[in-house]
Amino acid sequence: MTAHRTSSVLFVCLGNICRSPLAEGVFLHLVTEAGAAERITVDSAGTGAWHVGERPDPRSLEVAARHGVHLPGHARRVTSDDFRRFDRIVAMDRSNLRNLEALRPDGVATPLELLRDHDPEPGDGEVPDPYYGGEDGFERVYAMVRRSCEALLDDVLTDG
Ligand code: 4NP
Repeated sequence: MTAHRTSSVLFVCLGNICRSPLAEGVFLHLVTEAGAAERITVDSAGTGAWHVGERPDPRSLEVAARHGVHLPGHARRVTSDDFRRFDRIVAMDRSNLRNLEALRPDGVATPLELLRDHDPEPGDGEVPDPYYGGEDGFERVYAMVRRSCEALLDDVLTDG
């Protein structure tokens, strides 16, 4: 019998109300479908504090619901402890990556990556911030998050 290793993934954006809660919900949905919920921990957080305690943006909740995906969380800010608690920290854009590097505690080597590094379709590597745009922006963000999360899960299940 193969002993499955546990793994933990934190999705990060700026406000933790639009993109990273969607990535968290989609990834959790895929993890559950794959029967791996017992051994993969999923969460999300923001580098900014404006929306702490809030549920996801109604437009993220709507697009998720249209695709049968539940978004479980409330917004919180990234903490230095997250770098110790999570095996992988997955950012939505390069600005998030820079903000995260500034928060990284000394001597903690947790890998940071862009979600769209996993996207099988070509692009600029970023999930664009849909906050100030229209409804169609959320549908486009959903599609890229979904594709990227499917590939990320393959990677997590392979790497442990
Ligand atoms: P998110 O989008 O980073 O995808 O959650 C944003 C939400 C709120 C703000 C910026 C981006 N804001 O400036 O309040």
